Amino acid sequence: MAHVTPTGNEKKLAPGDFIISKTDTTGKITYCNRIFIELSGYREQELLKKPHSIVRHPDMPRTIFKLLWDRVKAKKEIFAYVKNLCKDGGYYWVYANVTASTDANGKVVGYYSVRRKPNENALKQIETLYSQLLSQERSGGMEAAKHYLDKLLDEKGTTYDEFIVNLQKSA
Ligand SMILES: Cc1cc2nc3c(=O)[nH]c(=O)nc-3n(C[C@H](O)[C@H](O)[C@H](O)COP(=O)(O)O)c2cc1C
Repeated sequence: MAHVTPTGNEKKLAPGDFIISKTDTTGKITYCNRIFIELSGYREQELLKKPHSIVRHPDMPRTIFKLLWDRVKAKKEIFAYVKNLCKDGGYYWVYANVTASTDANGKVVGYYSVRRKPNENALKQIETLYSQLLSQERSGGMEAAKHYLDKLLDEKGTTYDEFIVNLQKSA
């Protein structure tokens, strides 16, 4: 996969925009909607069958993706703020909801993500949190970063889900 150097150029979703993608059970893209294609700057054929990490931004902590995969593999939904990298090096923030798709027998057949415009006020807190998680990952690995996140949520007397959902609701 071609290496993309981040430029720091931000692109923003419009309030009514929904970015949708589906993956197979390994996280390879099987479907993406028009807005995803336009915003990411890739052609549809460049995205299909590629790992979803094609739009991974280096500012994203691995801890958040681990949480995401642990959740969806267990057929539980997750909400997360995600910073994505465009083909031209720009980036865009989304508020994502990721779920597992199951067949009639409850077997996971793939995953589904719907994203919308994040609350701008929430992003300030999320950017601080993610840079702290990244530095924890660098110094003490994933365990240290997870511990840091758990401690922070504990101190706030909240859970990951409550914290994230309330951030999106906050004014
Ligand atoms: C349905 C679905 C949607 C995803 N969407 C994104 C996304 O928009 N951006 C992203 O960086 N990772 C997304 N991921 C997570 C990636 O699969 C991957 O875990 C992440 O990019 C980290 O990649 P890495 O482990 O190769 O660093 C998604 C996963 C699933 C199952």
